[in-house]
Formats: sequence, structure tokens, C-alpha cells
Amino acid sequence: MGLLFRPLFEKESSTYTYLLADEKTKEAIIIDAVSETKQRDVGLIEELGLDLKYIIETHVHADHITSSCPLKERFSNAKIVLGEKTPIECADILLKDNEELHFGEYTIKGIKTPGHTDGCMSYIVDKFVFTGDALLIRSSGRCDFQQGSAATLYDSIQRLFELPDETLVYPGHDYGGRTVSSIFEEKQYNTMIGGDVDKDEFIRRVDAMELPLPKKIHVAVPSNQVCGSKIITS
Ligand SMILES: [Fe+2]
Repeated sequence: MGLLFRPLFEKESSTYTYLLADEKTKEAIIIDAVSETKQRDVGLIEELGLDLKYIIETHVHADHITSSCPLKERFSNAKIVLGEKTPIECADILLKDNEELHFGEYTIKGIKTPGHTDGCMSYIVDKFVFTGDALLIRSSGRCDFQQGSAATLYDSIQRLFELPDETLVYPGHDYGGRTVSSIFEEKQYNTMIGGDVDKDEFIRRVDAMELPLPKKIHVAVPSNQVCGSKIITS
């Protein structure tokens, strides 16, 4: 008996969803669940006989629609959790910096990692850190919308780099098929901020990203501000 951990993937937006549970008590959490894969996630939770306690978001996403509200309709005891800088009405809990929630014998701790958006949170469970779109494998989140700030993101990632080297990094996305990294690896090899890149150089690199806007941004952001409870199409 221990910590059950199921990384899951949504291929259209290359988003990772993470399901974790205490194998003994069956109390569970899900991080960054996606609308398109709701049935898969519901099926897995049911098959494993889990008691979903918390539906957690790292931030208000711009590239996909969350399944938070639909999951809460199915698992009515579950509470929707976002960071305190994301005061949206559909959230049941707005987690503060360093605040902890419990599922069975396990703890999830929120840490503020703004910069990609001003409300971004990362979450620590055991030896894992779920970094959302703050720290990606060998990359970082973009900062060109949703109150993004490269200077702020630099400070947030430095905070993540203070975690033990062996901490395993599970990001919100990966576009190259990678699933996991470590704080040690990212401190050394991250192409945006690894190898002691200073703040000015990091800002220059983020500014040079020149990425197209996410295809779904005009639907996803308003939908996610109501936790995916309805899809806005105009
Ligand atoms: Fe994002």
C-alpha cells in the first residue's frame, strides 16, 4: 500500500492530467483534468474505486477546457481547488502559498509560481512537483498573455530550483513526448533557465519565443473561468 500515481495525457493540447490516491483509504486528487478526456478519467476513477476529494488546477488554461465542473457533478464530494490569485466563483478552495490539503495519509502543498499567468500554482506531493506551465521539461511557460511576466516567472522557477535535486518534475504539457524530469536535470539542462542563466537573459529568451496564440484561447479562458461548466462558442 502506498501512493497510487497515474499520469494521463490529452493529445490534442499535449496536456498532462495527474491522478493520485492513497491506496489504503482510496482518497484521491486529480490535477489539470481536460474536457476531451473526461470519460477516460471518470472510468479510471470508478475502476480503481477511488474517492475523489480534490479537483485541482495549476492555473486558468488558455489551450484547453477543463473538466473540473463536470467531474464535480459526477463526484459530488470533490472540491475544486485553484490558487488564491485566481478568485473565480466556481472554485471551492483558493489555496494560499504553502497551504496543504490532505488525501488519506498524503499531503499536497501549493506553492505560488506566477509568471506564466499571475495565478499559477505548483503542487508538491511526496517526491513529486507538478509545475503546470511554470517549469516545463527543458523549457518554461510563455508569458505573453493572462498577465504573464518573464521577470516574475524567473523568480518562481528559482523557487522551484530550491527543491531537493531528486524531486521529480511533472509538467502541465510536453510537446516532445517526455514525461518526467528532475529538479537537478532542469537546473543543469533547461534551455531557458538552466546553467545559472540570469534574469535579464531569461527575459530576453522568453521575449524571443514568438509563439502563435493557442487556437482555443478565446473559448478556453472564459470556459475555464467557470471551471468548464459550459462551453462558450461565440
Ligand atoms: Fe497555460
